[in-house]
Amino acid sequence: MNIATRLARPEILALESYSHASWDPTLERLHANENPWRYTGDNTPAGLNRYPEPHPLALEARLATLYGVTAQQLLAGRGSDEGIDLLTRAFLMPGHDAALICPPTFGMYAVATRIQGARVIEVPLQAANGYALDEDAVLAAVGPRVKLLFLCSPGNPTGSALDPDAIERILRALAGRALVVVDEAYAEFAATGSFATRLDAHQNLVVLRTLSKAYALAGARCGAVLADPSVIGLLRRIIPPYSMPTPSIDAVLAALAVAPLAQAQLRIELLKLERERLHAALAELALVRRVQASDANFLYLECSDAAEVMSRARDAGLLLRDFSRGRYTPGGVRVTIGTSSQNDRLLEALARP
Ligand SMILES: Cc1ncc(COP(=O)(O)O)c(C=O)c1O
Repeated sequence: MNIATRLARPEILALESYSHASWDPTLERLHANENPWRYTGDNTPAGLNRYPEPHPLALEARLATLYGVTAQQLLAGRGSDEGIDLLTRAFLMPGHDAALICPPTFGMYAVATRIQGARVIEVPLQAANGYALDEDAVLAAVGPRVKLLFLCSPGNPTGSALDPDAIERILRALAGRALVVVDEAYAEFAATGSFATRLDAHQNLVVLRTLSKAYALAGARCGAVLADPSVIGLLRRIIPPYSMPTPSIDAVLAALAVAPLAQAQLRIELLKLERERLHAALAELALVRRVQASDANFLYLECSDAAEVMSRARDAGLLLRDFSRGRYTPGGVRVTIGTSSQNDRLLEALARP
């Protein structure tokens, strides 16, 4: 039995999915109740009066090449947020199943799980050990109702990559029992390789990727779920029809052409250099107790006075993310790496006596 059949909600396995209007670009479209005219000023190639391609084949083929997987192992959606949402809806039975998260971590895992009416089990990262996974505690917490584990690597908001060997051991220990979702939203900024290369070895592995960070496409809303074809097939049955808007598909394909891709690579390197410069300078400041080592495009600061850090940044026209009131993030402030002049402005504001 494949992993999707073994773990999915029975209602989803039995679901007859929505049958969208058929897609045949060689014929004129009188089948989808669209408007036959573009609005004046609509210069998009396909016309916004037309629904998008229901299953964006060229986009998914391009993303599959980018991430080194087959098209059957990939589903494109509106950001990795949509992937998280689809996974909770397909696998968590309301009032029965649970997802395990390792806080501090990305907030959408718990939100999507709770929207689904499922339980969230928390096994905190080890703050005193560089926010490492507590592997034994994770495995001990996985009972038969835990269908999803969300592991964020590099972590948000902490920035550090998790130990790949620990993730590998968790994958093996939970083979056939739960899906291990490795969220690699920031992988392009890290030295650890992607778990996408291990998909053939682990049916219970799901990798989330996004174009929002390294590829400068947050506004286009595009992400990908990489998983066993049985999982991808199941998610395809519940993704809303016409999920990816045509302008987003076009924007992603354009941004992944040779020249913009080379530019993205250069900028990733630039952001990594700025990250190290900012880390060293922030670590010297009286307002900052500790800067966590980062494998992402941001830094996590443990501050002695987070309110003062936030307020000084704001006075300099800069918005940071305040985590200081969070249960697992006392004094925590997250700083996205900006341009060197933005980073200088921040340092100047925080260094003032
Ligand atoms: C760890 C993590 N996963 C997923 C997302 C969502 O990204 P997307 O823009 O692809 O929905 C974010 C966004 O900040 C994130 O930090």
